[in-house]
Amino acid sequence: MNETNMTDTKVCVFDAYGTLFDVHAATRHHVERLGPDADDISQLWRTKQLQYTWLRSLMGRYVDFWQVTADALDYSLDQFNVGDAETRQLLLDAYLQLDTYPEVPGVLRQLKEQGIRCAILSNGSPKMLESVADSAGISELLDAVISVDSLSIFKPDPRVYQLAVDGLGVAADQISFQSSNAWDAVGASSFGFNVVWVNRFGQPAERLSHQHHHELTDLTGLPGLIGEA
Ligand code: LAC
Repeated sequence: MNETNMTDTKVCVFDAYGTLFDVHAATRHHVERLGPDADDISQLWRTKQLQYTWLRSLMGRYVDFWQVTADALDYSLDQFNVGDAETRQLLLDAYLQLDTYPEVPGVLRQLKEQGIRCAILSNGSPKMLESVADSAGISELLDAVISVDSLSIFKPDPRVYQLAVDGLGVAADQISFQSSNAWDAVGASSFGFNVVWVNRFGQPAERLSHQHHHELTDLTGLPGLIGEA
């Protein structure tokens, strides 16, 4: 970790899934249908979803994140031999209405009071992101919601991070990028953002080319970090 001063920050850009929205909320809301393997199904669903983004990007076979999410769910339900068509549909519907982590609305509000713009940069399709932000009641706190979909490639391709620079009209080093996904934090740091790794799950750092600049356990400390002299 190479701590940098964040006081030049103009915009806080957030990863969506796992950082603002709890990806495990979908299975939690339907645990009675999934039985004792619900947590493992959720973990596999997320793992496969991410693997498919990387694999499809490498193969040049993009489909949007909604399709990837459905494919990963089908694989996971198959692996655990659970779930009828109705359960599958309920889980996909739940993915459009994931809970935010509890501190998220307050932190976004505080940043806005500090004069910092807030945006999402996500693999999610525009429709998914609009739905999840609306249902969580945070749409009005976001200045921009940027999806990889216009590029037809997923994170951590550097062109994805460039979308935020172009869309927000600020330099890369005026952006503070927050992700709970360690590999996304590395990709964003490699691109040139100042990066806060939100290590919600107490994971070790990835052994890749770059490191995050700051580490938090949730987003509560972010306004203080940005406002620090
Ligand atoms: C996203 C995934 C990586 O929101 O969490 O882009």
